[in-house]
Amino acid sequence: METVNPADLQLILDEIAHSMAAATDRGQPATYIPELGRVSPDQFGIALCLPDGQQLSAGDAATPFSIQSISKVFTLAIALGRLGDALWQRVGREPSGAAFNSIVSLEHDRGIPRNPFINAGAIAVTDAILQGLQPRDVLAELLQFLRMAAEDDNIHIDKSVAASELAHAHRNTALAEFMAAHGNLQNPTALTIGTYCHQCAVEMSCVQLARAGRFLAGLPGCPRPVSPSRIRRINALMLTCGHYDASGDFAYRVGLPGKSGVGGGILAIAPGRASIAVWSPGLNAQGNSKLGAEAMEHLGRATGWSVF
Ligand code: DON
Repeated sequence: METVNPADLQLILDEIAHSMAAATDRGQPATYIPELGRVSPDQFGIALCLPDGQQLSAGDAATPFSIQSISKVFTLAIALGRLGDALWQRVGREPSGAAFNSIVSLEHDRGIPRNPFINAGAIAVTDAILQGLQPRDVLAELLQFLRMAAEDDNIHIDKSVAASELAHAHRNTALAEFMAAHGNLQNPTALTIGTYCHQCAVEMSCVQLARAGRFLAGLPGCPRPVSPSRIRRINALMLTCGHYDASGDFAYRVGLPGKSGVGGGILAIAPGRASIAVWSPGLNAQGNSKLGAEAMEHLGRATGWSVF
């Protein structure tokens, strides 16, 4: 991989933010969580953290947004820490090739979700870390993990987004009930889904998210909550499953492990090089940030950062 100097990188970020501000086809914010449907699609932010501790950003990089499915990376890290490889008895490690909220493969696979990043898989992961605890304990652990990883205490859950999702959680509840029917849910569905909806409603800015992702990039001088071998595995899952049925497309276009959220955020990891967060609320057909993916593609082209 090439080395890009920070002055050039800042110019690249400014150029990306400038071209994204002018974009007319911005995708549609998620409306199935009504509170997210109210967010203006005109926003765009990008931030990255570098090995020397520098942090660069452009656009609306300090604006908090709902991290949604990006939370699944952090609950996976917590679950692997707690359960180790026993977690893989409850959830697979294969790309699903289906939409993030699909129920189809669950029937075929007898209630074992294909991977921890589709909704069913993330619900199973949350259920696994909930066992024996109260939802507030699990959410406190997640917030503590994020605050420690980002070295920033100002990370919270947006309760109105959580309530908005919970009020429309029929599909996720169906996934949980289907898993329960196959013996792959250990807590009452309402507890697991309530916890899951709150974890998705964590609010972070691009700057906070890029900082929280530093450990995944193995950057020096940041907190290390997870062992290097586990970091490699989380990155592998982000690359193969982080964008659902657009994971292949993201790997082809960007070449970095990434995790998207329906709030319009994407966290991407250039191992040893950078932790990168982008946000733009308009989504493409697969429920991933349209301009966010374009911005990552632009950044990859300009820097040469790729795991390939
Ligand atoms: O469960 C849901 O549908 C949302 N809380 C999260 C989905 C999501 O972020 C999909 N990602 N692009």
